[in-house]
Amino acid sequence: MTFSHPSFGALDPDRIIIFDTTLRDGEQSPGFSMNLTEKLRMAEALAELGVDVLEAGFPIASPGDFESVESIARTIKGPVICGLARTGGRDDIARAGEAIRPAERRRIHNFISTSPLHMKYKLRMEPETVLQAVIDGNTLARDYTDDVEWSAEDGSRTDPDFLCRCVEVAIKAGATTINIPDTVGYALPEDIARIFTMLRERVPGAEKVIFSAHNHNDLGLAVANTIAAIRAGVRQVECTINGIGERAGNAALEEIVMAIRTRHDALAWHSGIETPKILRTSKLLSTITGFDVQPNKAIVGRNAFAHESGIHQDGVLKNAATYEIMTPESVGWTKSSLVMGKHSGRAAFRDKLRALGYGEIGDNQLNDAFRRFKDLADRKKVVYDDDLVALVDDEVMRGHDRIRFLSLDVHTGSKAKPRAELELEIDGAAQSAVATGDGPVDATFNAIRDLFAHDAVLRLYSVGAVTEGTDAQARVTVRLEENGKMVDGQGADTDTIVASARAYVHALNKLLVKRARTEPKALSA
Ligand code: KIV
Ligand code: ZN
Repeated sequence: MTFSHPSFGALDPDRIIIFDTTLRDGEQSPGFSMNLTEKLRMAEALAELGVDVLEAGFPIASPGDFESVESIARTIKGPVICGLARTGGRDDIARAGEAIRPAERRRIHNFISTSPLHMKYKLRMEPETVLQAVIDGNTLARDYTDDVEWSAEDGSRTDPDFLCRCVEVAIKAGATTINIPDTVGYALPEDIARIFTMLRERVPGAEKVIFSAHNHNDLGLAVANTIAAIRAGVRQVECTINGIGERAGNAALEEIVMAIRTRHDALAWHSGIETPKILRTSKLLSTITGFDVQPNKAIVGRNAFAHESGIHQDGVLKNAATYEIMTPESVGWTKSSLVMGKHSGRAAFRDKLRALGYGEIGDNQLNDAFRRFKDLADRKKVVYDDDLVALVDDEVMRGHDRIRFLSLDVHTGSKAKPRAELELEIDGAAQSAVATGDGPVDATFNAIRDLFAHDAVLRLYSVGAVTEGTDAQARVTVRLEENGKMVDGQGADTDTIVASARAYVHALNKLLVKRARTEPKALSA
């Protein structure tokens, strides 16, 4: 059977639509908020990766959310751009409609809870009122776009008969995609299969829409549940890079895509994802959010293709297929290569950045990044692609920051009390401070606090290396907490203390973005 869809037209029945919600469900989880520049950079990377639908945010949630959805709709070409709205909120749907208007292809995704528990305690609404809201919300959404998705929040814990009635009226009112989320990550694969099989068999009009799965990972089953949904006839899967998302996260895009690609013998579907770009996109997200994936994370973890035991290494050397079910190259792992030396010019530097996927860097950012590259090449014998990526991501992402690192001089040793002389640019004006501390990092952080007073508490400080060797760049993560809000910042430099200062400043900038956003509980989806 061939589907005809307002955004995709006649769809190949074996094609799985990849709906990415990294910038919505992913971004709304604690510590993962991004500013506009970061969201645009991430959206560009997701478009290059080949996602079909990009859920850019929840426009009614705050003016900042509206602005980022609208900017993504205006600038990002390729995917359908989607904005989230509550089914019951006329203003929600109008805001989402306005925000996505500039996009070539646009979708409104409206949702309302349908489980007894959510209707009674969260919505305080009777089932019949919810049913009417589904009709009204989807009818209204169709005034803004022909591509309308409706989600039954907590769908996996919804009474089957009521779910069928809701889906039926949503389709009649104009929804073209029906999403059944396992909002709390409670379902088992057989539950998911049963729900979709039932809906496709029982609901009149089911053959005219695309069914979609949205699984959370509270029991570690999000990807397994998504595969079960595909087997039960779902043709859209909602997922995030690195599996980020509310609580334990969402189904990981890279895992779903590589499961159907690697096990094509059992899963005869395909996606439009350019898999060699997966790792690059995963790393970009880690740089932006400050959260690295765990080393053993499937596909993108640092150990995903590492072979430690002698027996395994021997096998891989003889024939990689002995212990590798997919090639590292197929998801973007390559050996770090020497990029350039200190004599390389600006044009070669720009070419290299293009090759690494940085097409749209502005001249000012390029100049700043080039200056930092020259400085790095002076201090470090070998500059690898990974060094360059760390440095450029650091520079590009900081374009709109209120606080910028300028310079740092630290005096430390076993005799005198460590002392830091720090220069920051705050709202465009250079300012400096001198502070002492219990160690060089403490002195540096005290200097930052002198220059920009704040109450945030340091919750985590960790140091890793971008590449190998004693001259490797340090990558520092700093976690700050203010009024229960947590942010992580990252910084990279050959000098660990400079990397620490950059990471702290990054975290502070993220905190400022968070403070500016209104995030009432009721508005988080
Ligand atoms: O998990 C969920 O139910 C959601 C909906 C808004 C789709 O994120
Ligand atoms: Zn969700």
